[in-house]
Amino acid sequence: MKIGVLTGGGDCPGLNAVIRAVVRKSLANGHKVVGYKNGWKGVLENTFDDMTLSSISGILHRGGTILGSSRTNVYKVEGGVERVKKNMAMTGVDCLVAIGGEDTLGVATKLTEDGVNVVGVPKTIDNDLSATDFTFGFDTAVNVASEAIDRLHTTAESHNRVIVVEVMGRHAGWIATYAGLAGGADMILIPEKPFSFEEVTDVIKARHARGKSFSIVVVSEGAKVQTVEGEEDSSLVLSSTEKDSFGHVRLGGIGNVLAEEIERRTGFETRATILGHIQRGGSPTAFDRVLGTRYGVFAAELVHSGNFGKMAALRGNEIVAVDLKEATGELKTVDMKLYEVSETFFG
Ligand code: F6P
Repeated sequence: MKIGVLTGGGDCPGLNAVIRAVVRKSLANGHKVVGYKNGWKGVLENTFDDMTLSSISGILHRGGTILGSSRTNVYKVEGGVERVKKNMAMTGVDCLVAIGGEDTLGVATKLTEDGVNVVGVPKTIDNDLSATDFTFGFDTAVNVASEAIDRLHTTAESHNRVIVVEVMGRHAGWIATYAGLAGGADMILIPEKPFSFEEVTDVIKARHARGKSFSIVVVSEGAKVQTVEGEEDSSLVLSSTEKDSFGHVRLGGIGNVLAEEIERRTGFETRATILGHIQRGGSPTAFDRVLGTRYGVFAAELVHSGNFGKMAALRGNEIVAVDLKEATGELKTVDMKLYEVSETFFG
């Protein structure tokens, strides 16, 4: 068989570990592998490299993706599906391993329905894909964010300030919840639970009233403000209104808005830090290297046995096959029981 591998959507640490594992295992299984450039764009444009042992040498610890990535949506391109099929046939590619999040694997799900052989691997720092306990990349992002929170703690304490830390998480507050818990945040705000400025400032005021002179507030970029009791403000804080081909606007800036409100309402000097793409860059943690490697080897085995339309998923400590449809049907939002644990430490 000839297998095409691609990485799509926002990059994340561990992508190279998956590519390496897919290529190593598939070559050992007697197949050929090509690496499409820049996600679905490469399949549409038929741009690829033959993958050999030397193309994947020395990449396990490297961040990003050696294949490049894009947010290209095959279904938003005129005749996109036909182009995918034609290009695959022309190059003799029998099947694809798509490494991506909700958007990339959403395309993989539709292509499966349209008769293309695809296997998926769950990637995203946001950890919001269903049917798997964890996506790779999330652990690294959480470690980066919790280290940043540790650092912000010491400067907040020295200057008697409130520091708002904005982390990634478009629809789900997994990074905020885990990093906030690990970093001992005094308040965590996530998209799943719209908040009011009053509620945030009440918590900070109460904390300062018991003698604390600094606070750390962790907020997901997708957190929403509840303006009227029971109603959430539909206006997310955006850094750009331009939409990508999956209809997503660019988020970012809630941290600044929140910091201004906190300072205005409490009189406490407040600063905001937006961690942004730092959370997605750099070397993967050992956990993500191991998880990515296990996913990659498993995906190669799914391909070898002709088990298409599936995604490799982590359930407990086992890697299992789940239907791509199950993984992309709905987003996995934060477990409220976990969020309640973090609430114990608010204030
Ligand atoms: O999907 C992962 C993610 O990191 C989100 O948390 C974030 O909103 C988005 O990607 C930003 O992506 P980019 O700036 O690359 O378009």
